[in-house]
Amino acid sequence: MTPQETPVPAVAAVVVLAAGQGTRMRSATPKVLHPLGGRSMLGHVLAAAEPLGAGTTVVVVGAGRAAVEEHLERIAPSALPVPQEDQRGSGHAAALALAAVPDLTGTVLVVNGDAPLLRTETVAALVEAHAKAGNALTVLTADVLDPTGLGRIVRDADGSVRAIVEERDATPEQRAIREINAGVYVGDAAALRSALDRIGTDNDQGELYLTDALGILVADGAPVGGARAEDPDDVLGCNDRRELADRRRTLNDRVLDRLMRDGVTVVDPQTTWVDVTADAAADAVLQPGTQLLGTTTVAPGAVVGPDTTLVDCAVGEGASVVRSHCLGADIGPEATVGPFSYLRPGTRLLRGAKVGAFVETKNVEVGEDSKVPHLSYVGDATIGRGSNIGAATVFVNYDGVAKHSTTVGDHVRIGSDTMLVAPVTVGDGAYTAAGSVITSDVPAGAMAVARAHQRNVAGWVRRRRPGSPAAEAAAAAEQRDATSGADRSGADHDQ
Ligand code: UD1
Ligand code: CA
Repeated sequence: MTPQETPVPAVAAVVVLAAGQGTRMRSATPKVLHPLGGRSMLGHVLAAAEPLGAGTTVVVVGAGRAAVEEHLERIAPSALPVPQEDQRGSGHAAALALAAVPDLTGTVLVVNGDAPLLRTETVAALVEAHAKAGNALTVLTADVLDPTGLGRIVRDADGSVRAIVEERDATPEQRAIREINAGVYVGDAAALRSALDRIGTDNDQGELYLTDALGILVADGAPVGGARAEDPDDVLGCNDRRELADRRRTLNDRVLDRLMRDGVTVVDPQTTWVDVTADAAADAVLQPGTQLLGTTTVAPGAVVGPDTTLVDCAVGEGASVVRSHCLGADIGPEATVGPFSYLRPGTRLLRGAKVGAFVETKNVEVGEDSKVPHLSYVGDATIGRGSNIGAATVFVNYDGVAKHSTTVGDHVRIGSDTMLVAPVTVGDGAYTAAGSVITSDVPAGAMAVARAHQRNVAGWVRRRRPGSPAAEAAAAAEQRDATSGADRSGADHDQ
């Protein structure tokens, strides 16, 4: 379901009003920067408008201006931020935006910055309705069950739009209207400029209302209209944390609906969260408690979860990731991860590789069918194919100043509890003895033993811990050995 399935009508410019305080969020973060479903609120609005191919995008910034501008630079560097020093109302904001692009003519989309559920289809339909009717201004509307706090659409007996009245300025009859202003407008730049020049502050808030531009154009005899949104969810604003949670849930529901339509099994939609920027393919299975965030993709037949968070990861066909937290990891086809592992950026598991339980990896390539099954840290390393990294192995990559890398060849057997002190290379087919601290390269096919020899001090327990349960157990064992003739002398030995 790409928004671009049907050709999207173009507009000359997009204006996003994003200077408002967002007081009800009670946040140090500007309202439009609050994230949901993988984008900021502002990011969602810009993404919805993007396919309209506007040559100019203006974002009016005010509250939290520095942060909003910095964010814009990152997500939409070609957008022009226009400062609004005092928040004198949405009409004032729109007028400033148009004043910043004095040469702009043609169709302009003006949209509130706090409409994270707005979709391209909805905006495109509005632009189309606007063009078809030859209007000077067309407003997106919706019939809602609870219009509280929203501007009401006042229509004539013949159905034509006459005015938008804010709730606090509305008569009781107008308050009863359930068709509301979505805060999304398409207008002719010249008509908008002219109307915004003439709006006043004669309202309950003493603000310059963008919505008054519509009434002024009606009085001019200019053609205006209202187009209802097909899905009333699209027009929902976001003013406080409760609404933020609701919008997040709605966005998530939409994404999961799409995935399920595409053939993804979502075992528990209530606890599965997928960003709009993430994706999963047919026959992928998302177990309860799964989060697919950022640019994460999950290939056909892969199983993710339960209780797994993937940020900017790629999961290959038939792979499985159980109860793990992975950032920027590329998990190849048929690879397995978890339970309880932490894959950090630069981790790359090739086909059939395994990262088992309680393993942390970072900047590492694990070759085909190689395994890191238990309790290990693997950083800055390349592991060839068919190798096994024994339990509790640590790739010692940091000397306190700089990071160094380790190379492990094909079909290597790293013994349990090996410290591989980088930089170091272990050649193809080599072994390391359990408990070794490997500080020099190991040639192909060698067995590296780097640990103290074992010394057994015979009879130590009997002498030094007399009367203890250990001494009694030892005495009993000696007794048994004596009758059976076994040798437990405890001579020093290797391995
Ligand atoms: C606005 C509409 C209302 C509509 C509702 C939909 C007006 C007067 N009313 O009400 O009819 O039903 O949206 O959600 O527009 N802004 C600025 N500078 C300002 C003031 C506002 O940039 O000085 C921006 C805000 O950041 C926001 C948008 O304009 O994105 C709307 O302003 P807001 O004050 O939130 O209006 P609402 O009360 O939501
Ligand atoms: Ca609002």
